[in-house]
Amino acid sequence: MRTATAVAHPNIAVCKYWGKRDAALNLPSNGSLSLTLGPWRTTTTVTWDARDDVVLLDGAPARPDEARRVLRLLDLLAPGRPPVRVETHNDLPTAAGLASSASGFAALVLAADAAAGTGLDPNALRVLARRGSGSATRSLDGGWVRWDRGDRPDGHDSHGRPVATPDRLDVRMVVAVVDAGRKHTGSTDGMLHTQATSPFHPTWTTLADADVDAAEAALHAQDLAALGRVMERNTMRMHATYLAADPPGWYLAPKTLLVLAAVRALRDAGVGAWATMDAGPNVKVLCATTDATTVASVLGEVVPTVRVLAPAGPATLLP
Ligand code: PMV
Repeated sequence: MRTATAVAHPNIAVCKYWGKRDAALNLPSNGSLSLTLGPWRTTTTVTWDARDDVVLLDGAPARPDEARRVLRLLDLLAPGRPPVRVETHNDLPTAAGLASSASGFAALVLAADAAAGTGLDPNALRVLARRGSGSATRSLDGGWVRWDRGDRPDGHDSHGRPVATPDRLDVRMVVAVVDAGRKHTGSTDGMLHTQATSPFHPTWTTLADADVDAAEAALHAQDLAALGRVMERNTMRMHATYLAADPPGWYLAPKTLLVLAAVRALRDAGVGAWATMDAGPNVKVLCATTDATTVASVLGEVVPTVRVLAPAGPATLLP
């Protein structure tokens, strides 16, 4: 019996992954760029060669579909593996479009690789994390991470790649929690439905890769305003594709739009703040560290729960 524990942080995409060129392998139809954020984190302990397969989430048995996803990833790591016990603790809302699957699968692959003694290299770990949840390939690294779609059918060229350290920009991500409950449509269902039925999806795919290049250039130039503009237009385009699906879908709630209005009012008042939303109604607002208190207090008038997250480092194994 061998045990290992890993900690990973969630990431929020500045430019979104929204579409799959291969659904089974979680290969994206476009590139994306994210920022790894703390103090939110997932801590996962894997015990290899346990008595039975067990998957616990915050002390209780995981839902059967979630347990299956976890065990399937372990099968990919080590076909014919022994029984494994997985215990995960999230100190962030689970499955609410707040990137819990990203930190979850990043922590899982790191802990499982150590417990199993498989010794995967960093890119193999990133590829394996991607198989669990696409965005997890961006949570093994800290700071700013780019994930390109790649061209290879086997997907070995499609994984997270750090492009700038956490301190590249002195920023915060202020999270306005509109609803911490589970989203009603998961990200995979939402993006596959969009891809299959939205007439806007092909255009999205083309523009999304240009956004990733523009965002990375703004990041290297340390131009927060340029980065913020790309981030906000990118999220609006993503959500527009889903609205135009057949039947239409949306993740945004009435309060989401109130938060967006508050962000625009902040900008009109001269505070640099830009919004992004994922497969859920919550809004994440990028701003300079010096503006984070102002942004948090303004958003706190719209929603009851606001959290200020900071750029974080890579996933790590605990000694
Ligand atoms: O990793 P998944 O399958 O949960 O998909 C994430 C999709 C978005 O959060 C909407 C965008 C992204 O790039 O994180």
